[in-house]
Amino acid sequence: MKHFLEVGNLSIAEIEHVLELSTYLNKSHEETLLQTNVLFCFEKPSLRTKVGTEVAINQLGGRVIHIDPNAFLGGKIMHAKPIPGLDERESLKDTVMNVSKWCDAIFTRVFSHETLLTLCNHSEIPVINALSDEHHPMQALADFRTIQQKYNHERVPITFIGDANNVARSLIEMGIRLGYPMGFAGPANYSWTTSMLDHFDQLSKTYKGSFMLFENAQAAAMASVVVYADTFISMGEEDQHDQKLQHFHGYQVNEKLMQLCPQDASFMHCLPAHRGVEVTNQVLDAENSLIYQQAENRMIVSKGLFTFLLTEQETDPQLTFKTRYQFNQ
Ligand code: CP
Ligand code: NVA
Repeated sequence: MKHFLEVGNLSIAEIEHVLELSTYLNKSHEETLLQTNVLFCFEKPSLRTKVGTEVAINQLGGRVIHIDPNAFLGGKIMHAKPIPGLDERESLKDTVMNVSKWCDAIFTRVFSHETLLTLCNHSEIPVINALSDEHHPMQALADFRTIQQKYNHERVPITFIGDANNVARSLIEMGIRLGYPMGFAGPANYSWTTSMLDHFDQLSKTYKGSFMLFENAQAAAMASVVVYADTFISMGEEDQHDQKLQHFHGYQVNEKLMQLCPQDASFMHCLPAHRGVEVTNQVLDAENSLIYQQAENRMIVSKGLFTFLLTEQETDPQLTFKTRYQFNQ
């Protein structure tokens, strides 16, 4: 059994397999998830991850059960008067062990990545990260499908401009693994820690891609064929709104910045976007904006990912793919 909490949980062969399988399943309409039940539990709002993945599971013949995080992650209960020690319905271990007896996977969006690690400690079924404060690996799968479609697998330089957050981390981690030159530009006090820079450096030594920290957005744009942005204020950081906006001054992706990029450059954003804040309307709505293709790919890569995690246990994904699906490229 395999969990998918971060990009590093899949080998390069498995990432490539999931992307290939996604394409296949999106065309073939095979029902690979018949008789499977996936528990969805979201601590934060979601459109693309929740709806896109539910549609994918439905199309593959599976079912989704939605549970309120208050009833699942610790089973919080509200008393008219707080009763010390009795604010939880039951332990997370008991909840997860029960769910493991009925369901085939847990798909969850959490504030703290630690919650996912605790779930994995007790779970007998795959736990799949629908976004945590540290990682958004499903977003990265969809983004690399989008980039491969646009640039026909050419390893074009990709730079994230903005906050060193969950989306940026998963994008960079997957890019380096898949052999892309990855870059980052953001204000120093919201950039990567030394240990995270060491981690990217280590990944670059192990895999074919690379990592470059740019001094400012302009230097990044000049060197990038793909410019990627995300909100400056992630879910849960609303209290830092004014302070962050001040620090991110100069990191908005606008037409002037995109004009510095080489020809055939594209713009990407995981969405939701704050139009006029981290990116302008002109950039979001331009012909070279890939935002809706990314959203479409969120649904498509869910098909490959859930089929792989829930129905394939073999160690050689390429062999599995060829024998199970008789698919020739
Ligand atoms: N990109 C993304 O994860 O969108 P949602 O928050 O709407 O799921
Ligand atoms: N960094 C954003 C991504 C939303 C999909 C957040 O965590 O809110």
